[in-house]
Amino acid sequence: MSCGWFGAFSGCKGKHGVNQTRVEGILTSDVKCFSYNSLRSATTNFHQSRKIGGGGYGVVYRGVLRDGTQVAIKSLSTGSKQGTHEFLTEINMISNIRHPHLVELIGCCVEDNHRILVYEYLENNSLASALLGSKSKHVALDWPTRAAICRGTASGLAFLHEESEPPIVHRDIKASNILLDGNFNPKIGDFGLAKLFPDNVTHLSTRVAGTIGYLAPEYALLGQLTRKADVYSFGVLLLEIVSGRSSNKAAFEEELLVLVEWTWKLRKEERVLDIVDPELTEYPEAEVMRFIKVALFCTQGGAHQRPTMKQVVEMLSKEVHLNEKALTEPGTFRVRSTSHPSGINVSETSRAEKQKQPSNPSVNLTHSYSSQTETTLLPR
Ligand SMILES: Nc1ncnc2c1ncn2[C@@H]1O[C@H](COP(=O)(O)OP(=O)(O)O)[C@@H](O)[C@H]1O
Ligand SMILES: [Mg+2]
Repeated sequence: MSCGWFGAFSGCKGKHGVNQTRVEGILTSDVKCFSYNSLRSATTNFHQSRKIGGGGYGVVYRGVLRDGTQVAIKSLSTGSKQGTHEFLTEINMISNIRHPHLVELIGCCVEDNHRILVYEYLENNSLASALLGSKSKHVALDWPTRAAICRGTASGLAFLHEESEPPIVHRDIKASNILLDGNFNPKIGDFGLAKLFPDNVTHLSTRVAGTIGYLAPEYALLGQLTRKADVYSFGVLLLEIVSGRSSNKAAFEEELLVLVEWTWKLRKEERVLDIVDPELTEYPEAEVMRFIKVALFCTQGGAHQRPTMKQVVEMLSKEVHLNEKALTEPGTFRVRSTSHPSGINVSETSRAEKQKQPSNPSVNLTHSYSSQTETTLLPR
């Protein structure tokens, strides 16, 4: 893949093969360039009614191109330096990779100060809205659909980690970044925080980016980024899919346990199936049990003890026996107080901690922490 992150300027090719604008750092060549006007008309002037999502760095609209193709148009907030960096990252990451479980980038617009990404459109929006969203967005997902979402996401991530060259760490695996097509097939999206992971390094030491509730402890606390940080986030996602509960919007029992801790506790009490979404009236117990165990293997405190995504795909696809004796306690990262040694600025103490009463421990903490600088490559 083309991934010369630190290279010189280039631009994407417009209709006439000309560089439309100077955008430092973009090195990809095969990205289709859209004019701002064409995207404006595709979204009826970026009309509110076309809005299908919005997150850390801009707003996502449903657009219809002149030939009738539906697309998702992600417009980054202008003027934000960070936004531009995310934009360049995202283009670099995905322009040259194709996989059935990775969202396809169709093109971009880099006119004046506009930074816009154009993606294939996925009819069923995100897993967050279908599984964890408000009543109006909620979709009843049966077990076979959920299992397929888990396997598909796992295989997309395994591809990023093990087949893409160099490997890519996504860094923000979570329900809102798993998009669902018309048949609820999952596709991993939002590569804004992804990092290339050259072969000759064991880990990247980086400032922390990601989303509270999904952060592997060694990454959140020490800034040590390996593929295993994604494996951890994937484990959290698995538990959300099984339980139908958001890991950063729910706390369990008096101790206000996070989803992973609660699952571990129930397992010790030999009633781990209590986490299963009450909406799932029918499900194969042995398989669901296996998925929960896989999630616990993925979220172990020690990064090296977590499986690779390739192993995870296997564990989710076959009736493998999992050696539970090897399973160790999950690690969790909880937000405490102010400044953090790794560079993360954790300025918000959870409301639950402040008020010392049962409540949502992660209100206001669902945003992404991110940085655009200070990535050091540590040699093996
Ligand atoms: N290709 C797409 N098809 C349908 N909906 C999408 C698509 N891309 C993004 N969305 C919606 O927009 C939301 C935000 O998109 P995302 O790429 O994650 O941006 P952000 O960086 O703002 O988090 C997603 O959670 C989803 O609801
Ligand atoms: Mg997102």
